[in-house]
Amino acid sequence: MKIVVFFSGTGTNLEAILNKQKDFDYEVISAFTNNPKAEGLKICGKYNTQCEVIDHRVFKTRKDFDNNVSEFLEKINPDYIILAGYMRIISESLVNDWEGQIINIHPSLLPKYPGLNTHQKALEAKDKYHGTTIHYVINKLDAGPIIRQESFKIELNDTVESLTNRVKEIENRIYPETISKLI
Ligand code: GRF
Repeated sequence: MKIVVFFSGTGTNLEAILNKQKDFDYEVISAFTNNPKAEGLKICGKYNTQCEVIDHRVFKTRKDFDNNVSEFLEKINPDYIILAGYMRIISESLVNDWEGQIINIHPSLLPKYPGLNTHQKALEAKDKYHGTTIHYVINKLDAGPIIRQESFKIELNDTVESLTNRVKEIENRIYPETISKLI
């Protein structure tokens, strides 16, 4: 199974996915980022993985940007597009073209808290539990069919930072495993 991993920032999930390639039945044929300054680029270097960089800021419209992304995807023709901290909304036509083949990981127990600042929202709501969700991408933000969800108990002393780390620790474990079971 051939996958491409999309990221925009730190890339801990990207690293976990690359690292587990040897144990699981998938191959990262390329990475992709919209952010030329993403920390995750160093990880691509470390794992000798080619990374396509298309800076969204040089395009006037989302459509122009996504046309370029589309060309790249057609060229490499992956089985799955794995979003791992990819901070751009994917345009409708791209989602339609790759229907059922785009997977995302979102740091909340969906349908709770789609969008940004999920850790802050869970703390403000005094939630007892928090967690992460792996789901198919559809043309509605963070709303596609859920593949896997994992939760943990929020402790009294948890902060946005501690929740970020606790969530990522789970994500780094379950994302590679879940990807390997996609086919
Ligand atoms: C993760 O918590 C993921 O759920 C969210 O963005 C974060 C990315 O972290 N979509 P990283 O770049 O993989 O470290």
